[in-house]
Amino acid sequence: MLSKRVNLFVSFEGIEGSGKTTQARMLFELLKAKGIPCVLTREPGGTRIGEQIREILLCKKNSSLVPLAELFLYEADRAQHFEEVIRPSLLKGMWVISDRCFDATLAYQGTGRGLDWDLLRGLNQLASNGLMPDITFLIDCPPQIGLKRAKDRAETQLAGGGLDRFEREGLGFHQRVREAYINLAKGEKRFCILDGLKDPSTLHRKIVQEIRGRFDIGL
Ligand code: TMP
Repeated sequence: MLSKRVNLFVSFEGIEGSGKTTQARMLFELLKAKGIPCVLTREPGGTRIGEQIREILLCKKNSSLVPLAELFLYEADRAQHFEEVIRPSLLKGMWVISDRCFDATLAYQGTGRGLDWDLLRGLNQLASNGLMPDITFLIDCPPQIGLKRAKDRAETQLAGGGLDRFEREGLGFHQRVREAYINLAKGEKRFCILDGLKDPSTLHRKIVQEIRGRFDIGL
């Protein structure tokens, strides 16, 4: 067990439809219910400027966005996010729950788009100014199931414009992203891999147990 902590930086990763957003929210709601100061945020997004960058990144009309431009937009979003939300919140003693963080760049822009991991690690380090999550939950899920969930969700969103630029990628792309995440997670103690086929409340219980087991913290 690590030394006594007052707050943690927790990130959630996984392919589309893995259930990570639900889990990030459930953890946030638990913290709030316990009166623990916390912020729920996301990448891309999480700041006013970041939400504008997110629109460019996900807009299905931007199919001509080249991989390097895509990468720089994610890193621009991240630099703003760490400076404006993550670092100040942690300094204030708040928990930070982030729906995705820099690991997504390795999986999507690295293995998905074929950019060099060393280059990406350097840019991630620059954008995050050396800060990193204390624990990262990888919600693993087969792409056939994740994409089906994303599709069902897009169909039920009245104002939604259908699938976004990434959800439109083929199964092979998402399979590569999934494998990249698993390989990354197996190599770093910071990660905890969970089975995204389990029901949300079972997953939530495991997440809370894992945090309690790893950190000496009031939760
Ligand atoms: P979301 O749907 O989980 O909010 O994520 C938006 C999309 O952005 C998702 O398809 C994954 C992708 N993404 C990257 O490609 N690289 C990144 O660094 C991040 C944070 C997300």
